[in-house]
Amino acid sequence: MNIEEMKEIYDRYVIPNYIRNPIVLSRGSGVDVWDTEGKRYLDLFSGWAVSLLGHCHPHVVEAVQRQAAILQHAPNIYYTEPQGLLAKYISEKSFGGQCFFCNSGAEANEAAIKLARIYNSNTGKYKILTFSNSFHGRTLATVTATAQPKYHKGFAPLVEGFTYVPFNDLEALETSVDDKTCAIMLEPIQGEGGINSATGDFLRGVRALCNENGLLLILDEVQCGMGRTGKYFAYQHYDIEPDIMTLAKALGGGVAIGAMTAKKEIAKSLVPGSHASTFGGNPLACAAGIAVFETIEKENLIHNVKEMGKYAMEQLTILQKDYEIINEIRGKGLMIGIELNVNGAEIIKNCIQAGLFLNCTHDKVIRFMPPLNVRKEHIDEGIDILRTVLSKTSA
Ligand SMILES: Cc1ncc(COP(=O)(O)O)c(C=O)c1O
Repeated sequence: MNIEEMKEIYDRYVIPNYIRNPIVLSRGSGVDVWDTEGKRYLDLFSGWAVSLLGHCHPHVVEAVQRQAAILQHAPNIYYTEPQGLLAKYISEKSFGGQCFFCNSGAEANEAAIKLARIYNSNTGKYKILTFSNSFHGRTLATVTATAQPKYHKGFAPLVEGFTYVPFNDLEALETSVDDKTCAIMLEPIQGEGGINSATGDFLRGVRALCNENGLLLILDEVQCGMGRTGKYFAYQHYDIEPDIMTLAKALGGGVAIGAMTAKKEIAKSLVPGSHASTFGGNPLACAAGIAVFETIEKENLIHNVKEMGKYAMEQLTILQKDYEIINEIRGKGLMIGIELNVNGAEIIKNCIQAGLFLNCTHDKVIRFMPPLNVRKEHIDEGIDILRTVLSKTSA
C-alpha cells in the first residue's frame, strides 16, 4: 500500500494520538529499514532504543520462530523455561534480585511504584520523589511520576503521593524527604528529558540518603539499560546498586516485554494476588529476551558500544566545531544527545527525508541511539547526512 491509501485507512480506523511521518515502513534488517516504495533508511535511533541489535537480528528471529512453534502463551499459574531463564540472566547481570515480567516500560514502573507502596504498607509511608524532566510512562501513576506538566494536561486528578525535585540537586532532594516518603525514583540517564546524566556525586548521594532514611531506590533503566551506555545497566557506572530496577524497550530486541527486578527481601511483599499481568513473562517474549542477552555476550557488544560510542562522540564533536547551531554533545556509550540552540523538529524531518532516522526530544536535543552492533561506516554515513541537512539549515 502507498502512503495515500494507508493514510485513508488510518484516518478512518486508527486513533490520531501520534504525529506520523508520511512513510509506510515494511521491513528492516540490521541498521536498515525500507518503506513500501522500496526506499532505504539508515536507522540510528532504533525506535526509542528498542531495536538494540538492529532490525530482525537472526538470533532473535530464530528464537522467536522456534518458540512460536512450541508454546506461545502459558498462564502464570504454571512454570515455563524461558521466563525462568530470562529472570536468571537479568538477575545475574544486575544485582541478584528477582523479576516480575510485564509488557512495557510503564507497566514495569507501575509495578515498581506498587511494590514500593506495599513494602511500606505497615509504615504508613507512600510518597515517592521523582525528578524534573523525568519520563516514566503514560499510565496514570507513571505519568504522575513523570515530572513534566505537559504530560499531565487533561488527566486530572492525578495519583496522590508524588513530589518533584530538581534533577542533580542533592540539597533540594534532602529537604524534600519527609516522614511519609517511601522511595526515590529516577533514570540514571534521562532519555526523553534530553539525555541528562545523573552526576556521580548526585546518584551516590541519593543512595546514601535512601540508606539513612530507609527509602527504596528505584532506577528506571527502561531506556538506558541493556548495554546501551557501555555497561549492562547505567547504574553500574556509579558504583551503587538500586533496590528496584525497571527494564523494557530493548529487553526483547523488538518484541514487547517489560520487567521489574527487585532485591529478594523487598520483592517478597508481592504475594500471590497482589499484582499480576496476563501476558507478563510469556514464553515468546522471554525467548526473545534470552536471545538478546546471548547475542550481547556472543558478539561482545558491550565492548562495541564503548568503541563506537567513543568514535561517534569524536565525529559529532568535529561536526559541532563546524556548526554553531550545536550547543553540546553529551551522553554515555551509544546514548548520545546533540543539543541544538534551535528547535530540532525541522532538522529531523529533513534527516528522515534524506534517509536517516534520528529523533528530537525536549524540543532541542537530537537523540542518537544506534543499535549496539553499529559499525563505523554506519556512523559516518549518518553524520554525513546530518551534516548535509545542517548545512542547508544554516544557509
Ligand atoms: C525511561 C522511560 N521509562 C518508561 C518509559 C515508558 O515505556 P513504555 O512506552 O514502554 O510504556 C519510557 C518510554 O519512553 C522511558 O523512556
